[in-house]
Amino acid sequence: MVNIAVFASGNGSNAVNLVKTFNSGSRIRVALCLTDKENAPVMEKMQALGVPAQYVARSVWKNEPQKVIDILRAHDIEIIALAGFLCFIDESIVKAYEGKILNIHPSLLPAYGGRGMHGANVHKAVIEAGEVKSGATVHIVTNEIDAGPIVVQRCVTVLPEDTPETLEAKVHEVEYDIFPEAVMKIINATAEPPAMPKSVDDDWAETLGVPNDIPPVETTPPEMPKPEAGPQAPFAPFTPGSPSPAPASAPDAASQEPMPPTYLAWAVVTMVLCCFIPGIVAVVNSSKVSSRYYAGDYEGARRASRNAEIWIIITFVLGVIFNTLYLPLSIAGMF
Ligand code: GRF
Repeated sequence: MVNIAVFASGNGSNAVNLVKTFNSGSRIRVALCLTDKENAPVMEKMQALGVPAQYVARSVWKNEPQKVIDILRAHDIEIIALAGFLCFIDESIVKAYEGKILNIHPSLLPAYGGRGMHGANVHKAVIEAGEVKSGATVHIVTNEIDAGPIVVQRCVTVLPEDTPETLEAKVHEVEYDIFPEAVMKIINATAEPPAMPKSVDDDWAETLGVPNDIPPVETTPPEMPKPEAGPQAPFAPFTPGSPSPAPASAPDAASQEPMPPTYLAWAVVTMVLCCFIPGIVAVVNSSKVSSRYYAGDYEGARRASRNAEIWIIITFVLGVIFNTLYLPLSIAGMF
């Protein structure tokens, strides 16, 4: 469960919308509302919805921001949504929740943003300037007013008959869509990636019902058969610089038949068909696993991993088939 806090100073329709969007689900919930206005209507609305709402005086926001951070930590807050919050947010809060504080602004930022541009002021300015479109923007909060990276933005049409009030109502409608959307985006972007798909070893261990951390089995090499009694090659003591003596059983190369050239051709064909082509396909798929994984395409990574497994098996099976065919065919004198 991801806990979000809403900071609001006024009416709180966006705060209510966030609660209604998220609090009936099991993944995200508005767990706290903080306000800087003692009797802000948002307080009552939040309490009616069962969300703890707390008034924090402006002097605390300004001079003791650590107290705000402590309240947020006590509620396990991960994301903060500013929904009509008109109080200054201290740098230390921005730093403690870097990239995780979202603000909704009733214009198409960067237009009509900055100091003094809030609420009805924005809509008045838009109409006075004769704009034909306005809208709403959700952006990440930085230390500069209304200047952080934009997360979601949506337009509305400004009609000649629009007043600041009618325009505000239109903008509010799109705000109710884009604010939850932006919250989801930030949560998805900062969420821990899901665990990597299980490896083939894990799959086998699970199928066989054994743990996959069994230490490798120690094997003792079989004893070499003792040489039979009989004539043996004379023991030549090794002297540094002298060439090593040939083994007693080394065949005489000159007495051997030359290797038929088809052996080499067959070996090359086998190598290319069995190992090279399917092997390359397996390697290409393996390399896609991590690139897709880190790009956030977990489904793609899983698919690539599955393909790599399949192609490794194909390489192995083709190798076995070609090599077992090679022996009877070569005995039959075909090579
Ligand atoms: C919204 O228009 C929002 O864009 C701005 O303040 C207004 C808050 O409205 N930051 P409400 O209190 O959520 O109704």
